Amino acid sequence: MSVQYRAVNWTRHKVVYDLVLAGACVAFVGVFMVMSMVVHPPPNEVSPPILVMRALGTLAIVLLHVVLAIGPLARLWPRTTFLLANRRHLGVATFLVAGLHAFVVYGFYGGFGVENPVLAVLVRPDGSVGFEFVGFLALLVLLVMAATSHDFWLALLGHGVWKAMHMAVYVAYALVVAHVVFGVLRSEKSLVFPLLLLGGALVLGGLHLVAGGREWRRDAASSDESEDGWIDVGDPHEIPDKRARVVCLGSGNRVAVFRDGDRLSALSNVCAHQGGPLGEGEILDGCATCPWHGYQYHTENGQSPPPYTEKIPTYELRVRGGRVEVNPRPNEPGTPTTPVSITEGGAS
Ligand code: HEM
Ligand code: HEM
Ligand code: FES
Repeated sequence: MSVQYRAVNWTRHKVVYDLVLAGACVAFVGVFMVMSMVVHPPPNEVSPPILVMRALGTLAIVLLHVVLAIGPLARLWPRTTFLLANRRHLGVATFLVAGLHAFVVYGFYGGFGVENPVLAVLVRPDGSVGFEFVGFLALLVLLVMAATSHDFWLALLGHGVWKAMHMAVYVAYALVVAHVVFGVLRSEKSLVFPLLLLGGALVLGGLHLVAGGREWRRDAASSDESEDGWIDVGDPHEIPDKRARVVCLGSGNRVAVFRDGDRLSALSNVCAHQGGPLGEGEILDGCATCPWHGYQYHTENGQSPPPYTEKIPTYELRVRGGRVEVNPRPNEPGTPTTPVSITEGGAS
């Protein structure tokens, strides 16, 4: 895995991932169309352009659910963190499929001789706006996210603004649900679509609530302070080897305490690349490896191995009475620290 380290450029893995994703999308559209033809045989068949439009719309909303589920899934089941690395590709795929859906809508209406297909879809003849306009707004939000996804924008806007922009995906989700509820569900008599939509919203809401609740409890539990202000991290033996425990400091900053054999070191939990949760990664080749795109940092000094130059803050640790504690004052990024032993200071 470390050979793929810093997989920011196109790698074979990413090409294969995108080819599989594209293949799955084509298969989805195909299966959707065949099933529709079976369910609605002639003379009640739906015309192929409408079927393609529906298949693409449905695929876009399915992809949106997957994109939204990955974050909480990775928090709840660390084995799924590998899904985070390619989330941006899924996000862009969602935008492209939704854009294609809208394009087919415009083409379809245009093909039937309406004067201005764009206006005809967005504004009704009486001047009112319908569910198509809501879909258009959702597409705009996805467009802004896809267009600003490059690291260039991240550097320009800063983590905070960029992350806040990404949270707009929830606005897009609400708009898409409204688009479907006011559009399709109005004319659709079958209960399958509404039940699927409700099921999807419940699963997503449930995952976010459980993951958020767990994070909140972890942050609340990790604020125990000793008399000199050091923060309790817990029993060092409970940290799995090559993994980390993340604690939240009073300042709101998070620290990842990594265990490598019987040695412990603490780094900032925020990856220097795109702010990924370093503590959810693992130690590979002696370096803490970010689960998102594989940036690596030496655990004892927070520096990326040469030729890379990224540095993140380190923290001092101590073991007292069988508990590991962290000094909440961060060291300058890249400052060397001495790893502590888990048996130091009388741990059992
Ligand atoms: C090339 C485009 C994109 C890139 C590079 C990208 C990358 C990222 C990254 C690195 C994060 C983590 C931010 C954080 O939590 O601090 C993120 C968050 C997110 N992105 Fe994107 N994204 C892209 C496009 C999209 C699109 C188009 C969508 C929606 C369809 C989307 C949905 C999300 C969601 C839902 C989250 C955060 C939710 C969570 O933390 O669980 N992204 N994205
Ligand atoms: C300019 C933007 C958009 C326009 C003009 C548009 C238009 C339409 C129209 C006219 C339909 C009705 C199809 C029918 O008669 O059954 C539809 C259905 C649908 N749209 Fe959109 N849409 C847009 C954006 C989106 C986006 C961004 C998504 C999701 C990410 C989406 C998801 C869906 C879904 C799931 C359906 C239902 C498909 C079905 O009937 O099985 N749409 N859209
Ligand atoms: S490697 Fe990209 S956020 Fe850490």
